[in-house]
Amino acid sequence: MSNLELIKKLPKAELHLHIEGTLEPEMVFALAKRNNIELPYANAEELAALYDFSDLQSFLDLYYQATDVLQTRQDFYDLTWAYLEHCAEDRVVHCEIFFDPQSHTSRGIEFGEVIQGIDDALKAGQEKLGISSQLIMCFLRHLPEADALQTWEQAQPWLHLIQGVGLDSSEKDFPPQLFTNVFAKAKEAGLRLVAHAGEEGPADYIEQALDLLNIDRIDHGVRITESETLMQRVTDENMALTVCPLSNVRLCVYDDMAKHPLLTLLDRGIRVMINSDDPAYFGGYMNQNFIAVDEALSPSAEQIVALAKNSFLASFISEAEQQKWLAEIDAVAQ
Ligand code: ADE
Ligand code: ZN
Repeated sequence: MSNLELIKKLPKAELHLHIEGTLEPEMVFALAKRNNIELPYANAEELAALYDFSDLQSFLDLYYQATDVLQTRQDFYDLTWAYLEHCAEDRVVHCEIFFDPQSHTSRGIEFGEVIQGIDDALKAGQEKLGISSQLIMCFLRHLPEADALQTWEQAQPWLHLIQGVGLDSSEKDFPPQLFTNVFAKAKEAGLRLVAHAGEEGPADYIEQALDLLNIDRIDHGVRITESETLMQRVTDENMALTVCPLSNVRLCVYDDMAKHPLLTLLDRGIRVMINSDDPAYFGGYMNQNFIAVDEALSPSAEQIVALAKNSFLASFISEAEQQKWLAEIDAVAQ
């Protein structure tokens, strides 16, 4: 079997996906029309032409602007459903989805509208497409912790729909240590914890996220390569890194996919897997990320299988569910 066939056939889990990052230019225009919003771009092509980023901030500026078209429960449903259709196409059978409530509540959108729209679609995805899912609420780190704590309070009626909390947005100058109180509250409530760390920020932010926030999984984490000690630690602790190859190249963390450390980390025994981050902005969904890695780094079939297996091993599904998918991967790969 070719690598391409293998990539298409393997069941995969997606663990690093911002639902707002699946907002395609065409949907920006469709929702703007539905909600009577005037956009500063003439059409979807003109908007897409702006997706030429120099760093994380240049992307975030546009991403938050586009997010303004999301207003109603139906909008969040349509956004999430469109992502789930991509999952079905790429054989993503389980996803753990980030959402950024502060991007919406700050515009006067009710927390409940956001989460119910997403949840309605996730339930339909389970029923109609057989895709399992969980929700991870992210705090925006460019805002003060007081804002995150307020969001934590707003989330209380909806905690039954939330599996975990995360930390995203501008990383440089916003270290994990600024968010210890809100993460402690989420841990006390029994939620799983993740945080973006070591995407653009230094390896020290990864260490802070582990030691001060007590995270269960590191999002991105690629700058771990700068610390031999930390690489050994995450290997020993079986700590996973949710790596996003196309994102890292489009945001200029690496100027070429050939320089991406994904396979180096994998071969060192670090639990890495492939994710799409913000696929509407970075050139593709799950399988496009696998294909970009395949073309630039020429992984062996065994490495591709290991990446797929890691996506389940690092997920928050039960061990029995994990074992079921590992057996399915073995069945496909043999
Ligand atoms: N929000 C959406 N995508 C992000 C990324 N790659 N890093 C930090 N925050 C984000
Ligand atoms: Zn991300």
